[in-house]
Amino acid sequence: MSSDRKKVAVFISGGGSNLQSIIDASKSGNLSADVVWVVSNMRKAFGVTRAKNEGIETFIFKKKNYDSPQSAGDELLQKLQERNIDYLATAGYLQLLPEAVVRAYRNKILNIHPALLPKYGGKGMYGQYVHQAVIESGDTESGPTVHLVDEIYDNGKILEQVKVPVLQDDTPESLAARVLEQEHKLFPIVIEKLIKGKYEINDG
Ligand code: GRF
Repeated sequence: MSSDRKKVAVFISGGGSNLQSIIDASKSGNLSADVVWVVSNMRKAFGVTRAKNEGIETFIFKKKNYDSPQSAGDELLQKLQERNIDYLATAGYLQLLPEAVVRAYRNKILNIHPALLPKYGGKGMYGQYVHQAVIESGDTESGPTVHLVDEIYDNGKILEQVKVPVLQDDTPESLAARVLEQEHKLFPIVIEKLIKGKYEINDG
């Protein structure tokens, strides 16, 4: 049975609550995959501690430690392949993945974004900036988006979105909490659906 299980690497920069929800789904049998590697660009991210607490191998990946962006990408890709990683999930990872990795794992990388893309995405649109922008826009709905990752921030095919209301007295923090609750439910579901081939994806 275990041979059917896919291997997932999760990329984080921060608290890793989405990482935890993926690990929990894996342990409870709701996900036919295991998180076998957690990569962070931030050594002190709490998500790294979460991974260690779960006995999952971690890796601190800083592009500046390599001779060039290309060698950083090549070495990261090699490490992914050495571990036979099948899928990648970026969960609060505040960097672009190297091009070599995106190319090699095309249509097998998922990102979660805390707003209804294509609105409120792109470089610099993360964390509280996203929720602040939603509140300032006067939109009455927000919610997480899970999408495929390509070479551009928040640009790949949208697979799922969940809507939550934006309330009149919302602060970025209160809206973030409402969205995050849905993120935790949504991300493992979408990973599982992708693994099971439930999305129509044009490989061309
Ligand atoms: C989430 O809101 C995610 O959508 C965004 O960054 C946040 C990460 O939270 N990309 P966590 O690190 O998973 O707790």
